[in-house]
Amino acid sequence: MGFNVAIDGPAGAGKSTVAKAAAKAAGLIYVDTGAMYRAIGLYLLRKGTDLHDEKAVEEKLPGIDVSIAYEDGVQKVLLNGEDVSSVIRTQEVGAAASVTSAYGAVRAKLLDLQRDLAKKQDVVMDGRDIGTNILPDAQLKIYLSASVAVRAKRRYDELVEKGEEAVLSEVEKEIEERDYRDMHREIAPLKKAEDAVFVDTSDLTIDQAVKAVLVLIFERKVESEGKDS
Ligand code: DC
Repeated sequence: MGFNVAIDGPAGAGKSTVAKAAAKAAGLIYVDTGAMYRAIGLYLLRKGTDLHDEKAVEEKLPGIDVSIAYEDGVQKVLLNGEDVSSVIRTQEVGAAASVTSAYGAVRAKLLDLQRDLAKKQDVVMDGRDIGTNILPDAQLKIYLSASVAVRAKRRYDELVEKGEEAVLSEVEKEIEERDYRDMHREIAPLKKAEDAVFVDTSDLTIDQAVKAVLVLIFERKVESEGKDS
């Protein structure tokens, strides 16, 4: 097995920004699994499927092909061959992904794709169930979190910067709802793996959070290379 890092945590903890930067600095491939669930959510929204109707969602799955491509080391997510990497970055698509990712058939569809990516290369993979379910043998597991208020403010700033309309109290409410759904679903709920290192980014800048993660990666790399030799 290669060297794999699993980073899990709730929406807005800074996972993707931190994981992407740390992967680049450590020479590992960054895999964003949330983007895969978002691609499925986008397809279902476009088709007007009732997201709360599990059977209707399941029936649509055979028509969905999600794949990953890399351009200059940057992950692109393809939905039936279309690059949807930017259009999936809305609150609406995120919420659709959160609702539909609770269904077993949706999770099963992405499981092999995620495991295969980690088998073929050394990755930093971020999501909700990477340390607990997808890569239980990852050499390093990190649970990245921050207070709800801080996460809501970060999401809000991101949306405003993109020119989307947003109200801070609504973003906070959406984050709380998303946390609840992601943590309370029956299959592969978001939780800290027992052997994951908890990193609280509430009072950290992005740079500080990236450094904290990099220190953990290098420590663990040295340890695991020591074990191999
Ligand atoms: O990380 P994100 O906001 O892009 O994720 C969108 C949703 O996808 C999230 O609310 C829950 C779901 N998800 C999941 O269930 N499992 C993962 N490994 C990644 C994301």
